[in-house]
Amino acid sequence: MSFLIQPTPVSRPNRCQLFGPASRPELMKKMAASAADVINIDLEDSVAPSDKDRARKNAIQAISDIDWGCKTLSVRINSLDTAFWYRDIIDLIEQADERLDMIMIPKVGTASDIYAVDALVTSIEKAKNRKKSIAFEVIIESAAGLCHVEEIAAASPRLEAISLGAADFAASMGMATMGIGGTQENYYMLHQGNKFWSDPWHWAQSRIVAACRMHGLLPVDGPFGDFSDDEGFRAQALRSATLGMVGKWAIHPKQIALANEVFSPSPEAIREARDILAAMDEAKNRGEGATIYKGRLVDIASIKQAEVIVSQIEKISKSEK
Ligand code: COA
Ligand code: MG
Repeated sequence: MSFLIQPTPVSRPNRCQLFGPASRPELMKKMAASAADVINIDLEDSVAPSDKDRARKNAIQAISDIDWGCKTLSVRINSLDTAFWYRDIIDLIEQADERLDMIMIPKVGTASDIYAVDALVTSIEKAKNRKKSIAFEVIIESAAGLCHVEEIAAASPRLEAISLGAADFAASMGMATMGIGGTQENYYMLHQGNKFWSDPWHWAQSRIVAACRMHGLLPVDGPFGDFSDDEGFRAQALRSATLGMVGKWAIHPKQIALANEVFSPSPEAIREARDILAAMDEAKNRGEGATIYKGRLVDIASIKQAEVIVSQIEKISKSEK
């Protein structure tokens, strides 16, 4: 093992992030009552430019008026190339209730983007004497964002999570994709006349996962556009989970249960993790450093994996109470 110890990410469930436009205040109570771990009230691309001021006011009101339970509450602000972002931050941090946990910064391109937001947020927090420090999450959704993902991941101690935004990313890269996320019709290998589809998001996802893991952040898969396609969503989510991502966005309530199902450890995995920890405890009591479980060696790496699963499930059951 390197002397560089991999930091542990924040310990909160992040299986599903549910989005809703702040221009539709009637959705907010429904979002709060949903089974999503994280709520993202959107001020950005689901809100028309002419509606930004009203949406911002709605978001500030919903943050204090609604009982958000133990959900992580985040607002997606506008990107730094717009005329809206500074007002989003100033009004949110000055006026919103301390219940607000996090802001999501979209279309991040360099670490300096985060530095700018951090400086503004820090100054307002001091001026307003806010007790709780606002966390950040960002979206990587451009060529610049992906090229600079490592410096972005290291940009601020406020940063907790990075999502991949497939639609804007594809546009920025000039990718010939159809639909937001998922399998792409033209991305296949041909072998003996048979088509085998590959995953065009693999490289971007893996890069984000590596940057997140190096800096102790949560890697999250972004939206899947076709909310009538449950199997397509599940397949995309399973691939993301396999690559190390911890959760996925929902842009419609019907995607929440799918994300929770894929990103919760299965009952068998939980049982096995508990058994492995128990077997290891017994070995320790016998003065042994390793043990055999179901015919395979249980070493430090398996114990770490088992501990992650057990601690995840404890946090999920706590959040569901
Ligand atoms: N959160 C909570 N509830 C939602 C919801 C959301 N994001 N979107 C829809 N609902 C509710 C509806 O109010 C409706 O409730 P009801 O049964 O009490 O009437 C129910 O879920 C079914 O909704 P449906 O009619 O299928 O959807 P819609 O036409 O009202 O809205 C979208 C569809 C896609 C416009 C809407 O889901 C949405 O705005 N999603 C988020 C988009 C977003 O934020 N994008 C930015 C990130 S990419
Ligand atoms: Mg986007």
